[in-house]
Amino acid sequence: MSLAVQIRQHGGPEELQIVDVTVGDPGPGQIRIRHHAIGLNFIDVYHRTGLYPLTMPATIGMEAAGVVEAVGEGVTHLKVGDRAAYASQPPGSYCEVRVMPAQCVCKLPDAISFETGAAMMLKGLTAQYLLKKTLPVEGLQSGDPVLFHAAAGGVGLIACQWARALGLQLIATAGTDAKCQLVLANGAAHAINYQNEDFAARVKEITGGKGVKVVYDSVGKDTWDKSLECLRPFGLMASFGNASGPVPPFAPGSLGAKGSLYVTRQTLFTHIATRESTQAMADELFAVVASGQVKIHIDQRYPLAEVQQAHRDLEARKTTGSTILTL
Ligand SMILES: NC(=O)c1ccc[n+]([C@@H]2O[C@H](COP(=O)([O-])OP(=O)(O)OC[C@H]3O[C@@H](n4cnc5c(N)ncnc54)[C@H](OP(=O)(O)O)[C@@H]3O)[C@@H](O)[C@H]2O)c1
Repeated sequence: MSLAVQIRQHGGPEELQIVDVTVGDPGPGQIRIRHHAIGLNFIDVYHRTGLYPLTMPATIGMEAAGVVEAVGEGVTHLKVGDRAAYASQPPGSYCEVRVMPAQCVCKLPDAISFETGAAMMLKGLTAQYLLKKTLPVEGLQSGDPVLFHAAAGGVGLIACQWARALGLQLIATAGTDAKCQLVLANGAAHAINYQNEDFAARVKEITGGKGVKVVYDSVGKDTWDKSLECLRPFGLMASFGNASGPVPPFAPGSLGAKGSLYVTRQTLFTHIATRESTQAMADELFAVVASGQVKIHIDQRYPLAEVQQAHRDLEARKTTGSTILTL
């Protein structure tokens, strides 16, 4: 048996209920893992509200770290007793124990704690593919300016530090002055409070009128139009989230008028579709964390039983860095 957080219908945080579930043995290609810590992510909110619909009842959650308890047929990269961490489909990490596909589960290096593992896999692998694989046609060179929205959040704070390690000039946006101070302390070259400043005008000013090569935008509806104004010709609009709501339909012709811009909508789950790609990305993440170039900030911890409050705080923009649910 395991405690798990289930929803019976899409809705508000009150739909998150703790239940007892039976956990079986892993089938071919699966493992059973006992969690030590669980990562909270904004995608959990989309799953809860139904922006990304799920079949009911559903246990949500996409990220955790723990110990492998049992291994199914055909799994060769993990064994019983291994410390492990993952960002993975299908949802279901808000629980003590689960059976899940082994493909996206990685051995956790001894130097990385369970809490850090749970706080960094989904967010860190996302920062990896954004900064290393989601590039403009000309690529990114040291010194290039990029704009990263919601930079004080879970993905954002990792991206700020990783961008500094890559030599990029990351221009960060965040919703309060305190969050702006936080991103500057974590590698952002500039910070803009987009609640009270025109971020497009500031980006033009910072870049001497040229604009940035890439905008990394997870805010969606509220930032879309102005983000396009921040790009230089042939720049890349990399949309990867909808914290303020989905991006509304737009006319492709407007991209030509703004300078032959490129637009992409990325998701981590395409990047970690194979065991090999997952491990290669995770190895880069583990290396940059082990080197100290990227520190994982766990700024909030909630017992699993307080998951409703964790969701309220995340949606109310009260959190910074990573948040974990403890067991
Ligand atoms: N596509 C992918 O592969 C992928 C993977 C991971 C995450 N994501 C996306 O990346 C974003 C960051 O994820 P995260 O888990 O690290 O969350 P997070 O950044 O810790 O939290 C979301 C942040 O978005 C900002 N925000 C702006 N408008 C908002 C609004 N109307 N309501 C709520 N928040 C708003 C807030 O920061 P400010 O107060 O500073 O504005 C808030 O703290 C999310 O949109 C998530 O869906 C996408």
